[in-house]
Amino acid sequence: MSPDASPRPGVIVHGLRDGETNETSSVSEWDEAIARIVDGRVRRVLVLGAVDVGKSTFCQLLLHRASERGRTAAVIDTDVGQKMIGPPATVTGATSEAPEALTGLAFVGTMDPAQGVTRVVSGLDRLCRSARTDLLIVNTSGLLRGVGRRLKAAKIAVLRPDLLLTIGDDPHLDLIAAEHAGVARLRLASSPEAQRKTPGQRRAARREAFRRYLEAGRSCIIPLASSGLLALSDRQLVGLVDHKGRDVALGLVEALDRARGEVQVLSPARTEAVGGLILGWLRLDEYWNARPL
Ligand SMILES: Nc1ncnc2c1ncn2[C@@H]1O[C@H](COP(=O)(O)OP(=O)(O)OP(=O)(O)O)[C@@H](O)[C@H]1O
Ligand SMILES: [Mg+2]
Repeated sequence: MSPDASPRPGVIVHGLRDGETNETSSVSEWDEAIARIVDGRVRRVLVLGAVDVGKSTFCQLLLHRASERGRTAAVIDTDVGQKMIGPPATVTGATSEAPEALTGLAFVGTMDPAQGVTRVVSGLDRLCRSARTDLLIVNTSGLLRGVGRRLKAAKIAVLRPDLLLTIGDDPHLDLIAAEHAGVARLRLASSPEAQRKTPGQRRAARREAFRRYLEAGRSCIIPLASSGLLALSDRQLVGLVDHKGRDVALGLVEALDRARGEVQVLSPARTEAVGGLILGWLRLDEYWNARPL
């Protein structure tokens, strides 16, 4: 296989055969795993694990190391609750060249992965089809059981990863991997540095991610049919789509003018690029706290 060919299920990846696993348990073993991915032929990595095992940190380290080693790398963050990049309630993409700048966004409209399954999967599909880098890293939420397991299976189906990187010892990881035994798996222990985030820290991270994204935006006025206006409420989270219906940004409804048939939305999108709205299931209060509608 040439270095540029996409590895397929069935090939050996870094000396690991299909379904074979490798126990590691220290920070240096994380480093070793990252080096093996970056210096090898892996093109698409799906990072899985329960909550707070270090998934996002691993993705960041991998992205950084790939860039240091001269590989073009991108990350797609499919965790809609605890974002690594961009605002919650979205699937987001960034590259190693400018990790802070979003290269793509798919609106989901909820921070609950179970509620957003369809949009999360279609968002991942769209963002990975448009990725042009030679290493694609996909970050996920820690929801592994029930609908979480089905969501992981759907992500594997659209991404077609050549490596499942599982962190931690949650038995649901084995169930997910067993359903995709044709995909190579690398198993790492949770980092000894990983710390549990409290519910307060999680809420604060979500507020901060919404604030950073939306405060960089400005108000735009969007004309809407009256049926569309009736469906909207004040401070509702919305997705902004272009004139072809493709997601361009996340927005927050600031004001509704039913008499004029207009809605004012705070968003980083350029007004002329916006052709319509997708409704979210959340509203944001003045302190950027998200609440179900
Ligand atoms: N290798 C590491 N070095 C330093 N800190 C780490 C490391 N791994 C994880 N942490 C810390 O532990 C916490 C949890 O890590 P992280 O957020 O990466 O986990 P996660 O699995 O992505 O969590 P979630 O399920 O919320 O998405 C974070 O505060 C992170 O900074
Ligand atoms: Mg995370």
